[in-house]
Amino acid sequence: MSELTARFLTENAGSASPLSVSEYEKTGGFSAFKKAAASAPEDIIAEVKKAKLLGRGGAAYPAGSKWEHLLHIPETPKYIVCNADEGEPGTFKDRLIMEKLPLKLLEGIMIAGAVFKAKAGYIYVRGEYRKIQKSLLTAIENVRAKGYLGKDFDIHVISGAGAYVCGENSALLNSTEGRVGRPRIKPPHLAEVGLFLQPTLVNNVESFANIPVIVSMGGDAYLQAGHPDSGGSKLVCLSGHCKNRGVFEIPLGKVTLRDLIYDERLGGGICGAGKLKFFHLGGQSGPIGSPDQLDTIYSYTDLKNARLSVGSGAVVVMDESVSILEYLKGVTEFFIHESCGKCVPCREGNFQLLKILQKLSVPGKAKKSDLDNLRRLVHTMTSASFCGLGQTSAAALNSAWKLFKAEFEANVSQGER
Ligand SMILES: Cc1cc2nc3c(=O)[nH]c(=O)nc-3n(C[C@H](O)[C@H](O)[C@H](O)COP(=O)(O)O)c2cc1C
Ligand code: SF4
Repeated sequence: MSELTARFLTENAGSASPLSVSEYEKTGGFSAFKKAAASAPEDIIAEVKKAKLLGRGGAAYPAGSKWEHLLHIPETPKYIVCNADEGEPGTFKDRLIMEKLPLKLLEGIMIAGAVFKAKAGYIYVRGEYRKIQKSLLTAIENVRAKGYLGKDFDIHVISGAGAYVCGENSALLNSTEGRVGRPRIKPPHLAEVGLFLQPTLVNNVESFANIPVIVSMGGDAYLQAGHPDSGGSKLVCLSGHCKNRGVFEIPLGKVTLRDLIYDERLGGGICGAGKLKFFHLGGQSGPIGSPDQLDTIYSYTDLKNARLSVGSGAVVVMDESVSILEYLKGVTEFFIHESCGKCVPCREGNFQLLKILQKLSVPGKAKKSDLDNLRRLVHTMTSASFCGLGQTSAAALNSAWKLFKAEFEANVSQGER
């Protein structure tokens, strides 16, 4: 491992036969599952806790605490659900795992199945990933044929409904049950009342794929390989105006944003003669950062302290040719399209945001009061929306106007408020 990249997850990502169980076994595959099946559930959960694995789906919830909570719930049957909806624009790392390392993902889900003596596992796969759904079914069939799956525990593939909100874990469970994919009221917590109203574990693809790694190398070693607050590596998705675009595995806490965007082994710098204007982290629902934040270390803690975030792992790099207002209009149009319409702050709020952004783009059209309304809207949407979609849909705007105040105010009429 060189210091800027890691290979914990992606070591065998180039295998010619990713669906072959015997090839996977030759590289140590399923040894973590066998170990977990022969261990006490508490011991496996202790390793996940020591590893300080933070959920890789965006919310960064500690996986060990989630697992421990579910273990102590007496009701059965329990279900394991893998969130493979991957709807966040600029995010394509779960796709890499499902295409190139499907057996590692299955092994992670199977370990959870063994720990919780669960009845079944479901992988809710983004609707557009048709080919991946088919290859996952083949992978599951191959694992069944080897006798690892299908007796006490089995895994099923569900095709996603094609809506971003279905990535929200309670909407995802509704959709898996065949209902409309809209978020549920919480509490009750999904660990208690989840799939089919039974105790349920929901984790992201990358989170599950990390489980065999943790069980094999041990929680302490995994933690050391990353940041003291969050162990291991992170798959980041570089896109936009950097030279090298794609998925990169980096050790948490050891790489700065400057390394990520400029190092030849990672982003390789800005294309052509362009200069970096801003970067958008963690998906459309994440914050925007500026070049003076480039020395921030890529870790959950350091990014949070800099008012940035890891989120899904998306890193969209934009050069100076991009207007921040135009960029934010695109972000807001995405949320208008994806809002499920259940609550007013999100359904109407995003629409009003777009109207103000449109006014701000035309010389003399917006008044100072429009900027005040923008601030009020952001506050209301963030604090009063029903689910994470509405609560985070103004996050990019909220960070950008502090960084690009002049651009926001350039067209505001100096006359009447
Ligand atoms: C609107 C919305 C969309 C989401 N989309 C995804 C998604 O595509 N994939 C994902 O893993 N998590 C997504 N999440 C986060 C999930 O609700 C949940 O936190 C995650 O699946 C938990 O797994 P983890 O703890 O392993 O990250 C989304 C959340 C919201 C609010
Ligand atoms: S915030 Fe409200 S309208 Fe928006 S997606 Fe969530 S429930 Fe639906």
